[in-house]
Amino acid sequence: MKNEGQNIYSVFDEILSRETKESFLNQKAKVIWMTGLSGSGKTTLAKYLERKLQENGFFTKLLDGDNVRSGLNKGLGFSEDDRNENIRRIAEVSKLFMHGGIISINCFVSPTEHVRDLARQIIGEKDFVEVFINTPLEECEKRDVKGLYAKARSGEIKDFTGISAPFEAPKNPAIEVFTAGKSIEDAGDDFYHKLIPFITKEKQ
Ligand code: ADX
Repeated sequence: MKNEGQNIYSVFDEILSRETKESFLNQKAKVIWMTGLSGSGKTTLAKYLERKLQENGFFTKLLDGDNVRSGLNKGLGFSEDDRNENIRRIAEVSKLFMHGGIISINCFVSPTEHVRDLARQIIGEKDFVEVFINTPLEECEKRDVKGLYAKARSGEIKDFTGISAPFEAPKNPAIEVFTAGKSIEDAGDDFYHKLIPFITKEKQ
């Protein structure tokens, strides 16, 4: 029992650093923060990007409404407070991934400057790569993949981003991807090439 405290400290000493993990994975860990309207193609592009990154030796984790709102953030809705809490938790989780050397690819509407600033502050300016998936509202509404725009227009869904709740486009995103009139491959390859400099480790 006498060495108990000492043992605990030695365990903490052994937690591997972010640098060690990044060297092991041969990448720079970042949080790729995709913002854009519902139906803009965030998750679709993220899935394409994730595969392409994997093929090229990058280790990533994709987070989106489907895997986060069904578990960690179950019970949170779309009021301003709930969206803030949704994003705050996601930012904290991404930061943990990042300190483990992992690149997280986040697909969240994150509709306001305020909520994206919250994420940026948690993650840190230099590690937060803001990506605007720029698809006009008319195009998203035409796609209406989940039928939610129709429900928002009829009033069945309240506070719907772009219809009855605000969407503020980022003023100065690190990366901007246009999707209207483009194939997933074209938009995804454009995204991939723009992203590579942010996550490539300099040669030692
Ligand atoms: S965020 O605003 O808190 O960042 P998040 O990205 O997690 O939103 O979830 C958005 C997804 O939830 C949309 O793509 C859509 O499928 C669904 N959704 C359901 N209700 C709403 C709503 N009122 N506003 C926006 N998206 C909604």
